Amino acid sequence: MDQKLLVKNALIVTMDKERRVLNADILIDDKRISKIGAQLNEPGARLFDASGYVVTPGFIQTHVHLCQALYRNRADDLSLLDWLQKKIWPFEAAHTPASMRLSAQLGLAELIRGGTTTILDMGSVHHQDIIFEELERSGMRAVAGKVMMDYGNLPAALAEKTTVSINESLRLLDKWHNFDDGRLKYAFAPRFALSCSEELLRESGRLAREKGVLYHTHAAENKEESRLVRQRFGVSNIMLFDKLGIAGEHLCLAHCVWSDEQDRRLLKERDIKVLHCPSANLKLGSGIAPIPEYMEDGITVSLGADGAPCNNNLDIFNEMRLAALIQKPKYGPRIMPAQKIFEMATINGARTLGLDDETGSIEAGKRADLAFIKNSQVHSIPYENIYAKLVYSSHSADVAHVMIDGRWVMRERRLLTIDEKQVLQAAGTEA
Ligand code: GUN
Repeated sequence: MDQKLLVKNALIVTMDKERRVLNADILIDDKRISKIGAQLNEPGARLFDASGYVVTPGFIQTHVHLCQALYRNRADDLSLLDWLQKKIWPFEAAHTPASMRLSAQLGLAELIRGGTTTILDMGSVHHQDIIFEELERSGMRAVAGKVMMDYGNLPAALAEKTTVSINESLRLLDKWHNFDDGRLKYAFAPRFALSCSEELLRESGRLAREKGVLYHTHAAENKEESRLVRQRFGVSNIMLFDKLGIAGEHLCLAHCVWSDEQDRRLLKERDIKVLHCPSANLKLGSGIAPIPEYMEDGITVSLGADGAPCNNNLDIFNEMRLAALIQKPKYGPRIMPAQKIFEMATINGARTLGLDDETGSIEAGKRADLAFIKNSQVHSIPYENIYAKLVYSSHSADVAHVMIDGRWVMRERRLLTIDEKQVLQAAGTEA
């Protein structure tokens, strides 16, 4: 963008430190927010009238699998280990370059249409360049990495040699980390303890530290998975990362449904990030993660839809609503107030990814990653608490416009970086 853009008359949910909600204007200069204030005037700037919209930070989903979007509605009613063995691994093994491209486009189209502007993505074993190409084209901000797996009963097409997995990850890191002015970043992504050798887990952990990138994996999602990890390694799934020297602030653990006090102490002391996926945990029958206890301890918790085949969509509004509701029967109705949930979907996501100087709130100096959400809908008015409105009563279809890095990626619900018609046609005929 070579011209400044002045967004006028916005109702801004800033998610800044004071959690201010402002009636104000936002000046965007190239990729960043340069000023927020009442009645801004900027000669030469283009104008955008945001009357009637709530403007929020673009949503951040810290656990998704674009590679699985094409397998939506094709892997239902199974628990984790069966679901992987019978459905997900055969699906991923069958990916061609073309199907991987379509899967990424389908997932990205859905994410942008729901106001998500940043993701932490876990790919498959192959075709990771294609995922990065589609991330680049779509405008999405992302931390992504190929999945690594070299152990256990895997389909031949997915079973890797340890050194090949590591060398391919390093090649991808060299090519894509900090691509496009830092919009794309690389993360090591060993799939989970049961599909990785100890050497792969340890060496990718060492390299993640050396290269200063995230380590993204699944942990303690399912009871049987947790039992098998303990049987093989002699410690809990979460303590395993301590044993292997991987526990640290760059460690991003999806799920953490099954944890004890010692696990929680480690999560807290090492600033390990918990990626909460409420829909997936319910649909796979994995359980309900003790998120209120993590939050009480000050552990950073963020949200992700996980993959389409265990959800079956990638809608942050569903995740926010569920993240609040599922805890109330056990902990009481006061637990998980809507503002805390909204933090999980925005600023906590940014903190998880080490991007909290860049995104996750609407503040001068940060990237212009914004969602414009229709304020006056029959299903979302009236309201007193803006966070309750957003978390409990708004829908992804209320997101009208989306901007990432100062660039419009959706206007009036029309995608600008993805050919939605072509994706719908191709994905609709895939099954
Ligand atoms: N554990 C290992 N792989 C996966 C996956 O693809 N999805 C989920 N939800 N859990 C996993």
